Amino acid sequence: MAKSTNVTWHELSLSKESRRIQNAHHSFAIWFTGLSGSGKSTIANELANSLYKNGISNYVLDGDNIRHGLNKDLGFSAEDRKENIRRIGEVAKLFIDSGQVVLTAFISPFREDRAIVRELLEEDEFIEVYVKCPIEECENRDPKGLYEKARQGIIKDFTGIDSPYEEPENPALVLETDRYSIEECAERLISYLTKRNFI
Ligand code: ADX
Repeated sequence: MAKSTNVTWHELSLSKESRRIQNAHHSFAIWFTGLSGSGKSTIANELANSLYKNGISNYVLDGDNIRHGLNKDLGFSAEDRKENIRRIGEVAKLFIDSGQVVLTAFISPFREDRAIVRELLEEDEFIEVYVKCPIEECENRDPKGLYEKARQGIIKDFTGIDSPYEEPENPALVLETDRYSIEECAERLISYLTKRNFI
């Protein structure tokens, strides 16, 4: 429920189109989803570098970082994850409006929450990328030692252990990080974006 009343929408003097023309590229979100430790942030950062080198203005929003600031009031219940993703969807929309490419790296485990973001954006502004990696491999990598803590019951509601992950039904791309290197995954993304005229 909206709590803000008596607020008026102000049209901006510069449109999204003008900003896109100035930047000389389209603006859109690449929405990475997948288990913790699957490689979302690593791929997003690799892609960010490639885009940057090609003069494409971009920014990475990453779950662990955003949860230190904007979303530090949120935990990992289904309700908090929903709010986490809702806010990131709104922030992504602002980045798109500013003419930039935004790369989001959040587990975003629930289909319904991802669908809300898809609805919020235009059809040519949302690219869902499933960073797919078997849980056994994520657990094996365990870069932050969180899977071990989840197995010991120290962390509750951990995605893939005692909280569900709902795979995307129709992602634009599936990147299998147990089969391909980070560089290969980023290259596949670049070729997808080029073929579809996103960049
Ligand atoms: S999401 O589910 O709401 O999309 P988000 O991507 O923001 O999650 O944050 C996930 C990161 O938080 C993980 O990579 C991990 O480092 C950390 N984390 C801490 N507790 C949990 C938990 N219970 N489940 C999943 N990730 C957790």
